[in-house]
Amino acid sequence: MTHIIAIAFPKGGAGKSVSAVSLAAISADRGLKTLLIDFDPIGVSSSNSGLDKYSDLSASKLLADSRPKVSSLIQPSPFGYDVIVAGEGLLSGEKWMDTVPMGDLEIRAQLEEDESLQQYDVIYLDSPPHNGKILSGVLIAATHVISPLKADNENAQVLPLFINLSSSVNRIRTRFNMDAFTQLSYVFTDVDERTNITAEIKKSVRESLDPGAVAETVIPHSTAVKQAGQNMMPVVHFKPKEKPSIAYNRFFDEVLQPLFFGPQRKATSHESVAIA
Ligand SMILES: Nc1ncnc2c1ncn2[C@@H]1O[C@H](COP(=O)(O)OP(=O)(O)OP(=O)(O)O)[C@@H](O)[C@H]1O
Ligand SMILES: [Mg+2]
Repeated sequence: MTHIIAIAFPKGGAGKSVSAVSLAAISADRGLKTLLIDFDPIGVSSSNSGLDKYSDLSASKLLADSRPKVSSLIQPSPFGYDVIVAGEGLLSGEKWMDTVPMGDLEIRAQLEEDESLQQYDVIYLDSPPHNGKILSGVLIAATHVISPLKADNENAQVLPLFINLSSSVNRIRTRFNMDAFTQLSYVFTDVDERTNITAEIKKSVRESLDPGAVAETVIPHSTAVKQAGQNMMPVVHFKPKEKPSIAYNRFFDEVLQPLFFGPQRKATSHESVAIA
């Protein structure tokens, strides 16, 4: 079964693209057949995957009358996972979604119609920073959602709007006989542990969500993240021993490992004896 994981939060600079690329690279490192589709017009996920974000083979081609098969747009990245880059026309694609009946269902329909995508264990969908048809289309297509957010006031203020959007999307899904998506977790990114404001906001966000909705793992701030971007690489490959790389691996273990591989088993006493 292919898990389709949206990386979504309607605020710029929340850490969506860095998270999408890091999780795609880690998934491939762990042996999962992985595809990343960049639905963010800025194309950070595409370039951080070592690819030309303006390539003709792009996600923007999916949001137009003459749309090709999804799989015809896939390119291999140098980091073990496949990518469909953003392309130049995603914003016009979003306008096109407004002109077709039930345009929000378009991304889901195209992913479902292309049987060759079933070879993937996981497809990550990076998303734009604004509320619009692409974001709702990505949420309708997803089986699971991960929401990176920065521990600042602006992100905390957007959180209730995103929760509303998520429940509207899930109401629509239920009406069309689709399962609701699972909000896997919120994860704090680019965290500077030295400032009190961060700790206060983390506490208030945790209190406004279900217990367990916020990942225990936080992604610390490090200049290595920007440097990795300048080198068109996922940080987890550029500097695997840096704090954000270790944290993204820990986040994978905490939140995604159980989804793909089941809960980690502790050795039974019988096995422990055998190992000893
Ligand atoms: N852990 C981190 N340490 C340092 N810088 C970070 C970290 N995470 C993200 N950043 C920086 O923050 C900025 C925003 O990150 P990113 O592009 O992932 O956010 P985004 O949510 O995808 O933004 P947008 O919605 O505008 O596409 C980038 O410049 C990135 O390099
Ligand atoms: Mg982005």
